[in-house]
Amino acid sequence: AFEIVVLVSGFGSNLQALIDAAKAHPDQYRIKAVICNRPQAYALERARQANIPYFTICAAAGQTRESYDQQLNQQLETLQPDLIVMAGFMRILSAGFTEKWQHKLINIHPSLLPKYPGLNTHQRALDARDAIHGISIHYVNAEVDGGPVIAQAQLEIKSQDSAETLAQRIHELEHQLLPAVVLAIATKKIHYNLAHHQVTFLGDEIQAPL
Ligand code: GAR
Repeated sequence: AFEIVVLVSGFGSNLQALIDAAKAHPDQYRIKAVICNRPQAYALERARQANIPYFTICAAAGQTRESYDQQLNQQLETLQPDLIVMAGFMRILSAGFTEKWQHKLINIHPSLLPKYPGLNTHQRALDARDAIHGISIHYVNAEVDGGPVIAQAQLEIKSQDSAETLAQRIHELEHQLLPAVVLAIATKKIHYNLAHHQVTFLGDEIQAPL
C-alpha cells in the first residue's frame, strides 16, 4: 500500500482524521509512522492508540535548523515513505530539506494562501474584516507556506466569530480535506510537475465538504 509518514507537534486532530480515513480505506494508504517534535503532544497518544510507530525528535537547546532537519531526514530515509504529511507540524524546514523531499512533502495551513502565511491566521483574518477564511493544502518548498496549492476549502466569517470559533470550524474543514487529498495522491489522481511547480488533477478537483 501507499505509505505515509505524518509530522505533528500538538493536538493531532488532523492526524486522527488521517488515522480514521486509513481505517476506512485500508487498501488505499497506510500510516507507516508519526514523527513529533514535542514529547508532550497529544498526537503521540493518538499514534499509540492506533498502533502506529512513533518517533519524537526534539530540538536540543541551541541546535541549528540544519542539524535538526538532518535528524529528521535520517529518520525519513529509514522509513522511505511515499508521502510526508505535515499535519500541524510547527517547525520551519530548511531549504536543503525541502528541496530533497519537495516531490513528496505536503502541508496543511489554516488560511486561504497566499493570504496569511505564518501564524495567528484566524486573528489576522478577523482583524482584516475578511468575509471568508479557509484552509490550504500545498506542496512544500523553501518559501514558508509558499509552495503550490493542491486544494482549498473556505467558510464564511460571521460577525460573532472569534479566533476560537473560527479555529473550530477551520478544523472541521481540515478533517475532511486532508484525508481527501492524501487519498487522491495515493490513488495517483494528483500529479505534481516539479519542474513547472504545477499541480494537475486527473479527474475532478478535490472539494470539501465532500
Ligand atoms: C491545524 O489547524 C493546522 O492547519 C495548523 O495547526 C493546526 C493543528 O491542529 N497548522 C499550522 O498552523 C501550520 N503552520 P491539530 O494538531 O489538531 O491537527
